[in-house]
Amino acid sequence: ARRQRGRQLDIHREIAAYLHKMLFTKAAQGAREYMKSRGFGKEMAERWMVGWMPDREDIFKDWVRQMKFSGREMVDAGFFVQKERGGIYVRFMDRLMFPIRNDHGDVIGFSGRHIRDDQTGGKYINSPETVVFKKSNVLFALEKARKEIMAQNSVLICEGQLDVICCHEQGISHAVASLGTALTEQHAKLLRRYAKSAVLCYDADKAGMDATEKGFRVLAPEGLPVRVVKMPVGEDPDSYMRKHGPDAFRESLAKAMDFFEFLIDRETGEKGLTDVQSRMACAKKCADLLRLVPDAVMREDMINRVATRLRIGVPELREAVAKEIRFARNKPA
Ligand code: CTP
Ligand code: MN
Ligand code: MN
Ligand code: MN
Ligand code: MN
Repeated sequence: ARRQRGRQLDIHREIAAYLHKMLFTKAAQGAREYMKSRGFGKEMAERWMVGWMPDREDIFKDWVRQMKFSGREMVDAGFFVQKERGGIYVRFMDRLMFPIRNDHGDVIGFSGRHIRDDQTGGKYINSPETVVFKKSNVLFALEKARKEIMAQNSVLICEGQLDVICCHEQGISHAVASLGTALTEQHAKLLRRYAKSAVLCYDADKAGMDATEKGFRVLAPEGLPVRVVKMPVGEDPDSYMRKHGPDAFRESLAKAMDFFEFLIDRETGEKGLTDVQSRMACAKKCADLLRLVPDAVMREDMINRVATRLRIGVPELREAVAKEIRFARNKPA
């Protein structure tokens, strides 16, 4: 198994170099144009080792043969997919390829973005789970962000890898992203090693807001306080920076709000806090999330702030949280 891992890392390194080289061939003109439209220059493509997977299977398959990688190994790497009726096809076709690295900097997988809307498959296709790629414990750009996360005691978590790349390019180097999945418990445990708090900056849509709540649910139990940066509706960090510039984004980062402020805004919505029904429902929701904060002092501080904001009694909210904790304890696992 150890040997297979090493071999897969070698294969991934070779593929990354090959795809990167392909990006500068004549056939890749469309890919380069798309890349340019996303604000990528040559140096930027080099820094992130962006690649292009050709639009013809035989080109890639010929290279694989030349490299003496077996079909089995390429299936294991997630690059070949076995058809039900025999034969194989190449998973990524005519896509911009972003290498994904582990915390040692080894390439362990890829995320491929289509360069035209009419292409088959999703907007992004990622490597499947392999012996080297486990989505639930990989964070995009963590190997680059680690130092700055420790320097700032804080990690910035975005939704997409383009958001993270855009942040790093602007010197916002403590940014990472999970890859096509919600943040997991393993991600949180990994981040806890470097960060003392987390800032979530997900897309300003329902998926992003749901992911923010899920993020709190996994980060809070690890003792990481969570703050939230809200983007204008429909924007993500990448689109926001292109529209308003990096300084405007830095300002929104500085104005990151406490997670519960975000949650209460969202729960009470347009009705605001005037309606007693919505305030009670919101208190219950907050209590359910407050129970996840393990540190009693920190929890008490949050209870105070939430109660004030909702204009309810601190003892009442404290009791509601205690009840949620007891309830969770008695729940069968
Ligand atoms: N994603 C995915 N498969 C998709 C769509 C999204 O794996 N079909 C993942 C990707 O990791 C993506 C992230 O979810 O980066 C966020 O999705 P989305 O906001 O739609 O993509 P962006 O990162 O904003 O991509 P782009 O700006 O290139 O459109
Ligand atoms: Mn290792
Ligand atoms: Mn999104
Ligand atoms: Mn985007
Ligand atoms: Mn997005």
